[in-house]
Amino acid sequence: MPIDFKLQSTLHVGIIMDGNGRWAAGRGLPRILGHRAGVEAARRVVEAAPDAGVGILTLFAFSSDNWRRPPAEVDALMRLMAAYLENETARCVARGVRLEVIGRRDRLDAKLCRAIAQAEAATAAGNRLWLRMAVDYSARDAILAAARGLPELSRDALERAMGPPVDLLIRTGGERRLSDFQLWESAYAELVFTRTMWPDFDGSALVGAVREFHGRERRFGAVPQAPVYRQEAWLD
Ligand code: FPP
Repeated sequence: MPIDFKLQSTLHVGIIMDGNGRWAAGRGLPRILGHRAGVEAARRVVEAAPDAGVGILTLFAFSSDNWRRPPAEVDALMRLMAAYLENETARCVARGVRLEVIGRRDRLDAKLCRAIAQAEAATAAGNRLWLRMAVDYSARDAILAAARGLPELSRDALERAMGPPVDLLIRTGGERRLSDFQLWESAYAELVFTRTMWPDFDGSALVGAVREFHGRERRFGAVPQAPVYRQEAWLD
């Protein structure tokens, strides 16, 4: 999947993987099969990320508000995440992927916690892609926790305590909101929204979003080098 712009291996892409349920409903399938197809999409995107110039990939797998879902769906998601970690660890090691899970651990079951610890330890030396999976994650809680851990609160200190800034934030599934994901880190993220349901997202869709990112002028509050007026609000 060649791309024609200079690779930026430090690009941090965050993805809100939305639309699994609607993808399944549209096929007359139970929601859980949408999540299962979502795991396959995650696999494809992780595989495509390094060649797309992505150095850090943060995937929103389970938000702290997702506990409000029916227990059977929550349970299925937890099992899928544990299975993903168990099945993907060897492949991550082989591909130089360092896997990290961000978010709260105290409400996760012991099996998932073990799978997380094992995957993180086994992949710690990976330096081709830093894959961060957000599980029981709330950006507002993460900001609070980081601020509470500081001896003295300042913007610079908090900046250092938070994760790496997000360059490109993608949300699939047609909604256009951030849903408590990477709120601090996305202060200057370029936002790309696509109507594609997450299970249909793939490496070429990732490359399309990265290409869209490279077409934008990032000014970080400064004046434009040359005025560019764009009307597109959607990737597709
Ligand atoms: C949103 O779709 C998706 C989630 C809440 C879960 C995302 C999880 C996965 C893709 C599976 C686990 C991921 C990995 C990498 C192991 P939704 O259910 O809100 O869809 P809807 O808006 O169409 O109902």
